[in-house]
Amino acid sequence: MNSSFFNGFVNGILPWYLNNQRDLPWRNTRDPYAIWLSEVILQQTRVQQGLSYYHAFLSAYPDVLSLSAASEDEVFKIWQGLGYYSRARNLMRTAQCIVQEMDGQFPQTFEGLLKLPGVGPYTAAAIVSFAFDVPKAAVDGNVLRWTSRLFGSDAPIDLPATKAMVQTELDRWIGQTSPHLFNQAAMEFGAMLCSPVPKCGECPLNEQCIAFREQKVKELPVKSKKVKVEEKHVYAFFFHNAKGNFAVEKLPEKGIWAGLYSLPMWMSDEPLNQADVLKRIQKQGWVTADVCDLPSPYLVTHLLTHRRLKVHIFCILLKNMPKNASIFERWISAEEARHLGFPKVFERYLKTQIPKYAGLI
Ligand code: ADE
Repeated sequence: MNSSFFNGFVNGILPWYLNNQRDLPWRNTRDPYAIWLSEVILQQTRVQQGLSYYHAFLSAYPDVLSLSAASEDEVFKIWQGLGYYSRARNLMRTAQCIVQEMDGQFPQTFEGLLKLPGVGPYTAAAIVSFAFDVPKAAVDGNVLRWTSRLFGSDAPIDLPATKAMVQTELDRWIGQTSPHLFNQAAMEFGAMLCSPVPKCGECPLNEQCIAFREQKVKELPVKSKKVKVEEKHVYAFFFHNAKGNFAVEKLPEKGIWAGLYSLPMWMSDEPLNQADVLKRIQKQGWVTADVCDLPSPYLVTHLLTHRRLKVHIFCILLKNMPKNASIFERWISAEEARHLGFPKVFERYLKTQIPKYAGLI
């Protein structure tokens, strides 16, 4: 990359950004807490979906002190539906660490921010540049996409060496302009114009872009490995009693839904037939012997980045309560369910399949 890159950025991408940027709330603040919150929410989430969560968090916890005092159940409830729940746990750990060990103040350096749980190089760079105008380039997937196309580079963007090269180059230029504008413009350009399906006709850099000139836009960027999607099967049970209360369990601290509340369930690598499912719940003591067949399950496929979950939910009225099944320690009503965070599939199941819960969760 050379100075023509910088000219292209200053004369092409920056003016385009200033005229076309979306009005996003985290762009109108220099508060590192609000910026950090927005960046953690946006790590695996689209802007349109992230907006309502950003507002909900800021209104529940306007500063790091209030978040540090929040209960885990409360935070998970607000996070419900966003997925990747380790992010919510890291939010709480970071808030507590900042209050207890840093006098309530966010670190103002890239290196200081990197030490916080859940904050990687991209997020640290975004926070220092947006909040403190420190010249550190925030290199995310958007930036890697447009730099690969602009320079016609087929270096795989999922390799650390490629990221390091782009980081070094952009760090050379960012200090020569406004760091927060540079990073916002770089991200927005990748998100809105040089997107996976790009709008080359509207691009201010199309004459400079090697991929465009050589008709390689569709082939770039390149990745070294394909994301492997694993298929798993979830067997879950809406065990309810005559009063309409149902059994929930709190999931362990590890796994995709760590710490959330769930219908009693297990995950399996293989699909199971109904007879095997029945045998297993009898063996686990989840049903008494009088339950000798299962209703057809409600089936839904839930797609995550690396996983396809086939979720099978069985609705079972328990007339006789099994003894000694620890799974039945917690029975809740629709009203109680309102305050707990569930994985989205179960929340949707309750809302759409169980009329009593429709307006409540
Ligand atoms: N994605 C991640 N961070 C973002 C930001 N600050 N603005 C828009 N999209 C983003």
